[in-house]
Amino acid sequence: MHILHVVGARPNFMKVAPVLRALRAKLGVKQTLVHTGQHYDANMSDVFFQQLEIPAPDVNLSVGSGTHAQQTAEIMSRFEPVVLERKPDLVLVYGDVNSTVAGALVCSKLQVPIGHVEAGLRSFDRTMPEEINRLVTDQLADLLFTPSEDADSNLQREGISPEKIHCVGNVMIDSLVHLLPSPAEHPKDDLPERYALVTLHRPSNVDDRQNLKRILASLLEVNQELVVIFSAHPRTRQRIEEFGLASSQLRLLDPLPYTEFIALQRRATVVITDSGGIQEETTYLGIPCLTLRNNTERPITASLGTNVLVGHDADKLRAELAKILAGKAKLGSIPPLWDGHAGERIAEVLARKSTTQRAAGLH
Ligand code: UD1
Repeated sequence: MHILHVVGARPNFMKVAPVLRALRAKLGVKQTLVHTGQHYDANMSDVFFQQLEIPAPDVNLSVGSGTHAQQTAEIMSRFEPVVLERKPDLVLVYGDVNSTVAGALVCSKLQVPIGHVEAGLRSFDRTMPEEINRLVTDQLADLLFTPSEDADSNLQREGISPEKIHCVGNVMIDSLVHLLPSPAEHPKDDLPERYALVTLHRPSNVDDRQNLKRILASLLEVNQELVVIFSAHPRTRQRIEEFGLASSQLRLLDPLPYTEFIALQRRATVVITDSGGIQEETTYLGIPCLTLRNNTERPITASLGTNVLVGHDADKLRAELAKILAGKAKLGSIPPLWDGHAGERIAEVLARKSTTQRAAGLH
């Protein structure tokens, strides 16, 4: 069986690594890795390949940045000939980025079966570009690998047949478990005793000047209580400069490599973010997470985990932070199947399918 993986943006890389590894252990599986080039900076891409031990991509489409339509269309037109030439039996797409939906659209028109890893997540907010990518990709996918049962329910409600849905757990947590840095590698002395780790990149938070200004004002307030370590996405850095909102009191770090960022999360007093994946990682690590969004496609991190949605409410952020600093942070537990073996479960499903199809003489 020939499986082709499509990745393109930072959050895809920690999801593909465990699946590649698990499939490598299966006999008779050929794998091809395509990088769309959606993320291209060394610290958004290469460093993740190195740390997660992902082999160099077989193909790099080098699409780079653009508007949503430009980026999606560019990926599609450069990816189509690759599929035609390489003739995979199945294409796996990951998460909810533009590379995901572009890969799925190409394969559906070429009638190449699609597997979607991290299927079924819904924020129910169609102003988020990722929500559109999730809805479309899930409609097109033949195999839907979900991280939790809420995702299964979302898919069934949308009319997706239960035979296509496989609840395998969270592949992002596989990478976390695999690479959880040992405390010895990251001595505590390097870091302040207490700090807030911050990331921000959602268009709704950073592309609007007023919203970004309000958030930065809240972060300056947090900065009076504890050190703020702000790892800035290129989009965020650009907007802060463009809108003239830079402040000497809030120092921006470049995006951090994976293991360094995990080590920082692990020791943080609180993580303040609008990322999806970080809501999951903090839940696994048991670190308080305050999410600067009104909704989440990962509700299990709030119902079972340590995540609290504070939206854009500065008072709520202040109140939740006060609780954490007073030692009264919300306690959480790790959701079922977030155990470091999701990639292996995906490989099992694929191996079973391949055997059934061989028996039926399909390939
Ligand atoms: C994308 C994903 C988002 C994911 C995020 C993680 C979509 C719709 N969004 O958002 O779901 O959470 O990745 O980072 O796919 N840029 C660089 N260097 C890079 C990449 C981007 O400087 O290596 C800059 C470019 O100016 C670009 C901007 O960042 O225009 C945004 O990049 P883009 O890939 O369009 O979306 P992200 O905001 O990264």
